[in-house]
Amino acid sequence: MVHDELKKTASWAALRYVRSGTIIGVGTGSTTAHFIDALASIKNQIAGTVSSSETSSAKLKAYGIPVFDLNDVSLLPLYVDGADEINDQLQMIKGGGAALTREKIIAAVADCFICVVDSSKKVEILGHAPLPIEVIPMARSYVSRQLIKLGGCPKHRQNVITDNGNIILDVYHLNMRNPVQLEKIINSLTGVVTVGLFAERGADIAIIGTTRGAQILQKNYYTKC
Ligand code: A5P
Repeated sequence: MVHDELKKTASWAALRYVRSGTIIGVGTGSTTAHFIDALASIKNQIAGTVSSSETSSAKLKAYGIPVFDLNDVSLLPLYVDGADEINDQLQMIKGGGAALTREKIIAAVADCFICVVDSSKKVEILGHAPLPIEVIPMARSYVSRQLIKLGGCPKHRQNVITDNGNIILDVYHLNMRNPVQLEKIINSLTGVVTVGLFAERGADIAIIGTTRGAQILQKNYYTKC
């Protein structure tokens, strides 16, 4: 699995940003699963983690890594997570694993957000992948109609209930040339819990797994990473 090796390359490269004695934010997905393996190799050097999904929490706990409630954590220097797509501005589409709401909350709290992806996720313009949106179940039809008015083609993700008890709409064909504006518009629709566009608060650093090793992209010269 070529992509899986590249995901592993990116995830293990993120270890260099982990400071000893701190709590680490951990995302969700197959790339983040490699990061959890990497974190386990230095588990005695960190204070613990906060996690964006029940699946990641279970994997962390299986390694004996403490998982804290985010409400009990006031300082979160680092959050590491994957993405479905990322552009040069380090804006992302996330939510392929249906964990977008908890991911956005942890991203908001973290000082530094590092996105780990294989090179297939790097795009010029977001929108090749569908945009996941977490929606309150009773608002599904209403939100779908509003998304169609925005030019999108929403599809209800079958047999998926989020960790928060909601549904996911995957939206195709949206124009994403202005991701910050689109994120605001979709967030303002009643019944939407979270849109999987991470544009307003994108990543601070992207680590791209390539066949030549880990490539680092940094948005600003000054980051808290
Ligand atoms: C989880 O909800 C997502 O945001 C994931 O981070 C994203 O889908 C990337 O997943 P993979 O690492 O499995 O490609």
